[in-house]
Amino acid sequence: MDIQELKQAIIEEKEKGGVLILAHTYQHPDVLEVADIVGDSYALSKATQNVPQKKVLMCGVRFMAETVKILSPEKEVLLSHADAGCPMAEQLDPAEVRRYREAHPGHAVCAYVNTTAELKALADVCVTSSSAVEIVSRLPQEDILFIPDKNLGTFVQQMLPQKRIHLMDGYCPVHNAITAQMIEEARRAHPGAKVAIHPECPYEAVRLADMAGSTKEILDYIHKGDDEVIIATERGVYDDLVRKYPGRGLYQLEPDCMTCRDMKKTTLQGVYDALTGKGGLVIELDEALRKAARGSIDNMLKYGGR
Ligand code: 13P
Ligand code: SF4
Repeated sequence: MDIQELKQAIIEEKEKGGVLILAHTYQHPDVLEVADIVGDSYALSKATQNVPQKKVLMCGVRFMAETVKILSPEKEVLLSHADAGCPMAEQLDPAEVRRYREAHPGHAVCAYVNTTAELKALADVCVTSSSAVEIVSRLPQEDILFIPDKNLGTFVQQMLPQKRIHLMDGYCPVHNAITAQMIEEARRAHPGAKVAIHPECPYEAVRLADMAGSTKEILDYIHKGDDEVIIATERGVYDDLVRKYPGRGLYQLEPDCMTCRDMKKTTLQGVYDALTGKGGLVIELDEALRKAARGSIDNMLKYGGR
């Protein structure tokens, strides 16, 4: 099958099977085209709550499919590629967080949504990159263990000096590779261009940018303005934007190191295979674990997640 035939076959299979296809913006552009909903981690986790389809195919990484399952346990949730994990979500040992909780009973534990179900179950509240500052500011505790992303945690600390943010050594290998020097060099190469950066990057780079925000916030920033922009996040955002704004001055910072290998494991053929029972992974979660993890996501919604 050529690409167009494969896309058509995917559309027929998903309609026949009553499957909702979700895709994170970091997926290959071809995969985005066959998805019903494209969004960032937060948008995708909420997307299935009021839809009629009983089957969901998540084109993304495992924690995203798990989050859908946590919120919509009655649905069959499939991950598009069995080995698509998020290195950051899997970096921390839950035992370390358990020990921290025992030693610091007065501290809140705040988990970035990019975590495993086990870590969500140990947290008081989840956050996304767009809501982390707002939610942490509303927590009654002054001391907060922020897991797993030390860079997003540092960003929150800079925005909220009244809080004491405690960190563990987790990070996204894609965003963590960005340095202040890379930002300075990109500015020299594109004088006058603005810099939009994801707060998963180290703060030394984030502080040099014109705006810092989640996938959706970066997209909104570029949709609303007409500036030239250097984009410092996973290159799926750039790939999506250049198709929408051909000819506009958009520049991907360090395209090779800003490519998430796990996000790119899903191909169109992989989507077809998952839909036809020849690939993908059905997400199963222990019910006690699912309920425990759900508490921190419900608290995120209560505190004003977005
Ligand atoms: P957001 O989609 O929340 O911006 O997170 C970025 C990311 O790295 C997803 O894996
Ligand atoms: Fe995980 Fe980073 Fe890839 Fe997102 S970009 S899935 S945080 S490794």
